[in-house]
Amino acid sequence: MKKILIIFLLLIVLCGCSNNGNSEKDILNIPNNIDASDGLNTTDDPNTGYITKDSNILVVYFSVTNNTKKLAIYAQEHLKSDIFEIVPKQEYTQADINYNSDCRANREQNDESARPEIKNAISDISKYDTIVLGYPIWWGQAPKILYTFIESYDFSDKTIIPFCTSGSSPIGSSATNLAKSAIKANWMEGKRFSASASKDEIVDWLEQKVEVKSEMKKEMKLFIDEQEVEVSWEDNESVKDLYKLMPLTINMSEYGGFEQTGAIGKSITRNDIQMNVVPGDIVLYNGNAISVFYSESEWRYTKLGHINNMSRTELNSLLNRASVTLSLKEE
Ligand SMILES: Cc1cc2nc3c(=O)[nH]c(=O)nc-3n(C[C@H](O)[C@H](O)[C@H](O)COP(=O)(O)O)c2cc1C
Repeated sequence: MKKILIIFLLLIVLCGCSNNGNSEKDILNIPNNIDASDGLNTTDDPNTGYITKDSNILVVYFSVTNNTKKLAIYAQEHLKSDIFEIVPKQEYTQADINYNSDCRANREQNDESARPEIKNAISDISKYDTIVLGYPIWWGQAPKILYTFIESYDFSDKTIIPFCTSGSSPIGSSATNLAKSAIKANWMEGKRFSASASKDEIVDWLEQKVEVKSEMKKEMKLFIDEQEVEVSWEDNESVKDLYKLMPLTINMSEYGGFEQTGAIGKSITRNDIQMNVVPGDIVLYNGNAISVFYSESEWRYTKLGHINNMSRTELNSLLNRASVTLSLKEE
């Protein structure tokens, strides 16, 4: 502990010099506050049929100055997982983390038995089999509240993937010490990130650790003349090809009194079959055009999807006009 303290203090002095008298906030590279709601949309929309995500992953994090929080949100966005913030019952103030003084954080880190209380709880941990666990390094270790967290649940047979942020210290023994409190869990090797680590850095690391089952990690949203329409996409190679072309805008024109059709601008995978299409169907025509139907027809197509929750009348007023613009956007 003494050794870590000396190294850490040395480091802070060095950082302080190179930062030309900047504040402690700058030395620790603390970003501005991040809105807690940023990127936290974890809803699994049953209508976006092709999206498969590892819904059994939970990103858990503790963060006082938001460095770890930023990376946790990147992880959650990449994994399309749920996310849980460990919220202390007694919030940590700036004075509480002023490690140059006899602050609360220092006292807790020096107290073997300290277990700061947690205000919130995971409603059903049994839903998850993998926990990505993020925390800051405090004096070479995980903050004591992480021990409170680990000791509060049964992690038997769950996989825990730890990561941390720090001024410069490595993850060191912080994760292996935590692991002693949940020996029945499968702890994977963790990684330390700097406070300024980018989304790519954490995504690259996660890709080595977690197999995200779907090639399609984001939703493909369809807009007709800027109006978003809800679609159940087929799970096929043509939709995957379309997904890769996003963002895509197609100028369509009315054809035959039953469809809007327009060129994609290139050919994609096709598996045409003779089909009877119904209002709301979205198909690939000739491998290089998309048709959206507001009335029945039949031809050889590859089905791409179907517009949900719109009546024939609504589809008619949306599509029965000389031309429309269709766009596909990543959300
Ligand atoms: C009490 C305390 C102790 C710290 N100890 C270390 C340390 O030993 N090594 C280090 O590199 N950084 C240390 N730091 C810096 C934090 O690890 C770093 O700023 C981290 O990114 C903060 O994460 P957060 O913004 O998610 O709270 C310490 C910070 C505090 C508040």
